[in-house]
Amino acid sequence: MIELIDVHKTLGGKKVLVGMNLSIKRGETYTVIGRSGIGKSVTLKHIVGVMKPDKGRVIVDGVEVQNLNRRQLERFRVKFGYLFQSSALLNSLNVFENVALPLREHTRMSEEEIQERVVQKLSLVGLKGTEKMMPSDLSGGMRKRVALARAIVMEPEVILYDEPTTGLDPITADAINGLIRDMQQRLKVTSVVVTHDMKSAYKISDRIGLLHEGRIIQEGTPDNIKDSNDPRVKQFINGEAIGPLTTSRD
Ligand SMILES: Nc1ncnc2c1ncn2[C@@H]1O[C@H](COP(=O)(O)OP(=O)(O)OP(=O)(O)O)[C@@H](O)[C@H]1O
Ligand SMILES: [Mg+2]
Repeated sequence: MIELIDVHKTLGGKKVLVGMNLSIKRGETYTVIGRSGIGKSVTLKHIVGVMKPDKGRVIVDGVEVQNLNRRQLERFRVKFGYLFQSSALLNSLNVFENVALPLREHTRMSEEEIQERVVQKLSLVGLKGTEKMMPSDLSGGMRKRVALARAIVMEPEVILYDEPTTGLDPITADAINGLIRDMQQRLKVTSVVVTHDMKSAYKISDRIGLLHEGRIIQEGTPDNIKDSNDPRVKQFINGEAIGPLTTSRD
């Protein structure tokens, strides 16, 4: 469903992706882990075509994303739900309108259909009854859940989650994990998750890949990763300051 082939990207003079290869099957939940600033969000941006590779290919559902023009990209993106790391809610719109926005922009649904769909997604993320609240009145965790409701409101084939549980209390985080799992199982969506939260990664992923120095240096099932003897994987999952991930660049 999603393939990155030898993707290179330099940003602000820094080589962020260096020959990145990634292959994600239809219906799979793949989680990218890695240190802050290593290129996880940049990877997601390549998948939706917000960023284009300097070199290499990005193929989604048979489409060569790097070759799409503006108009083609717009149509292509309807396939995706994207939970931005920053939530990216519109401050001038209430919760209902934030979640309804993609429906108003990309569908011809009636007002009743929109109403029904938005309320359904808000209750799925545990936010029923917050329709009239403004983003500035929400806690960080609530903002994240509104953004999640918006990401899934079009019932997309592919959902990209950038740090879906960061900043949430453990109980809400677990509910979000359950939701991600549930959407994969019930709706057969393909998901790419970026996270530092290893508990969440183990729970939701079919496979986990460790991004370092511009490419995925190890990948496997949650059990493979937990039991890995690779010193780089061990350093990351155990959260140790000193080790192979921190000697070459820091
Ligand atoms: N538009 C941009 N212009 C210049 N540099 C950028 C741009 N976007 C990202 N970068 C740089 O690319 C690198 C990777 O950024 P990215 O946002 O992918 O990190 P990340 O792995 O998602 O980190 P975090 O876990 O902190 O979110 C960083 O050094 C960042 O400063
Ligand atoms: Mg990021």
